[in-house]
Amino acid sequence: MTENGQQHAQAEAPAVDATVPHSARVYDYWLGGKDNFAVDRAMGAAMTEAIPTLPAMAKENRRFVHRVARHLVVEQGVRQFLDIGAGIPTRPNLHEVAQSIAPETRVVYVDNDPVVLAHSRALMVSTPEGRSAYVDADLRRPRSILDHPGLAETLDLTRPVALTLIAILMLIADEEDPAATLRELTEALPSGSYLAITHPTQDFNPEAVGTAVAAARQAGMTLVARTRDEVQRFFAGWELVEPGLTPVLAWRPDGEPPADPQAAYYWAGLARKP
Ligand SMILES: C[S@@+](CC[C@H](N)C(=O)[O-])C[C@H]1O[C@@H](n2cnc3c(N)ncnc32)[C@H](O)[C@@H]1O
Repeated sequence: MTENGQQHAQAEAPAVDATVPHSARVYDYWLGGKDNFAVDRAMGAAMTEAIPTLPAMAKENRRFVHRVARHLVVEQGVRQFLDIGAGIPTRPNLHEVAQSIAPETRVVYVDNDPVVLAHSRALMVSTPEGRSAYVDADLRRPRSILDHPGLAETLDLTRPVALTLIAILMLIADEEDPAATLRELTEALPSGSYLAITHPTQDFNPEAVGTAVAAARQAGMTLVARTRDEVQRFFAGWELVEPGLTPVLAWRPDGEPPADPQAAYYWAGLARKP
């Protein structure tokens, strides 16, 4: 623990594998970063050949989580966030948005990519009143997150937590049972907690998304586009907050509603645990 209440959760960094594409690095490539390898750029380019606007869609996911954070901090008084699949830091990060409104907000970031781990220091520059921590763990093993000392030192699981899963569930195949994973995680959260999800879909443009998904799979990455009903099922037992499960561009947009809400091929929703 450092003087700012920051925490680093892993002593030794796991090796970076530059032979298969990783989603964090492909995202970094689309967002104009430098933390990517030839395999990531090749796969990212193959996907953008099918969907040239994918980089813009990646930015829309970040904008969605900012809107969610502002809504939860301002309107619902939420002061704790658990962001799984945090990605390579891009300012403003979630804790910067939340702490700019409520400096005492606490955020735990989770990711399992060594490149994200290498950058995690940027995620841990918290306000003195709040705290942010990074936990190197795998969503597919919820107990590795819930039982991690970095989580207990930062979040109080007897009080509401906003769990954010932004563009990550698509990396978990149906055979790995993402719904069961989600249940295990959300059962640990108290009533009044929130769940935010974005998920890519073929619903708006089946052909282009099908081609992009095939390019990812050919490069060795698990990638699943899901239908509205499939994404809705991830919220089972939770109450969707208005406007419900919508295209990401249509979820409480800042300013004017988008001319074409389906221009970004992601479903997005926020729900409250009753
Ligand atoms: C497509 S990126 C999205 C990043 C960020 N949420 C955003 O929207 O900008 C997916 C992130 O999830 C991480 N990830 C993938 N599978 C994971 C797993 N099983 N456990 C934890 N993190 C995972 C990747 O390393 C990557 O950083």
